[in-house]
Amino acid sequence: MSVYILGVESSCDDTSAAVIEGTEILSNVIASQKVHAEYGGVVPELASRAHQQNIIPVVDTALKRAKIHKKQISAIAYTNGPGLLGSLLVGSSFAKAMAYSLDIPLIEVDHLQAHVLANFLDKSGEHKAKPEFPFLCLTVSGGHTLLLKVNDYFDMEILGRTIDDAAGEAFDKAAKILNLPYPGGPVIDRLAQQGDPRKFDFSIAHLPELDYSFSGLKTSFLYFVRDRLKENPDFIQDNLADLAASIQYAIIRSLTDKVKKALQQYDCKDLVIAGGVSANSGLRGAMQQLADRYHRILHVPTIDLTTDNAAMIAVCGYFKYMKGEFSNIHAAPYSAAKNRLQA
Ligand code: KG4
Ligand code: ZN
Repeated sequence: MSVYILGVESSCDDTSAAVIEGTEILSNVIASQKVHAEYGGVVPELASRAHQQNIIPVVDTALKRAKIHKKQISAIAYTNGPGLLGSLLVGSSFAKAMAYSLDIPLIEVDHLQAHVLANFLDKSGEHKAKPEFPFLCLTVSGGHTLLLKVNDYFDMEILGRTIDDAAGEAFDKAAKILNLPYPGGPVIDRLAQQGDPRKFDFSIAHLPELDYSFSGLKTSFLYFVRDRLKENPDFIQDNLADLAASIQYAIIRSLTDKVKKALQQYDCKDLVIAGGVSANSGLRGAMQQLADRYHRILHVPTIDLTTDNAAMIAVCGYFKYMKGEFSNIHAAPYSAAKNRLQA
């Protein structure tokens, strides 16, 4: 009998609902909140209000696109954390109420595990090769930067993490310094394709072990641009593509240096990237080079599955459903990342 999971995601500024059958996506609807763009970042109170407005139409559209009646759903999976608490409360309350009224299982999902497990989703009619355990996964988003040894769907060891800003934040802050719109990652990515990554040299932090730091890079970028603007008020416009390419190159170098180190230290089969920043074309290229050099297969989600979406929540829910791991309506949302990502 088919297993249909409804996934609900509301951890930050995207309201999303998806229906999957097994690991195959039937629908994946995402309402991105435009309201934050004028503030240059996510405003938590506005995010939770927008989730409240979006959640019912988004779930309704996901069911319609999947051509599934709500009575056919096997279970509802929702993001329980980490994320903005007000935003999480909207999705979790909705999922709890709907599961309760339909009398079907409720499954809480960790957003970071879900980014990793997005690599196990199939698009309609396609069955892509899946990563083999244990694999090394670089999870890079707007809120997190983690280097994980993934032993199983629900056993993810954190080998390294950022001690300050996340990689996505580094992209977004660099974009802000260049007066580019939010979110800055995709804009920098586009501009960088026309620029010279070696035009400006920005030094990266060298932390011991496998941890990351991006706040020093952001500050040196800020001071560099500020000083050059004193000499030439048009410095940004005159060098935009080269600035984007050079800062992107520094962020990617910082990320891949630790991946290389982890590949040498840990016995992992495949190499995987996950999270919003894994959409970055430069990062994908650099990770492919590493995979080739170390004879590993690189797995990357399709671009639409890198940033926040409910299909990744649903697939995480599907694997829990198969293990019979359900939650109750008292599960409380959490804002900070866990120390080890286990079910
Ligand atoms: O995973 P995600 O959608 O949300 C979080 O869980 O944080 O990641 C959003 C982040 C933003 O910082 C955005 O700038 C970044 O992913 N991002 C990119 C690209 N696309 C999205 N960064 C670099 N290059 C991209 N192409
Ligand atoms: Zn995310």
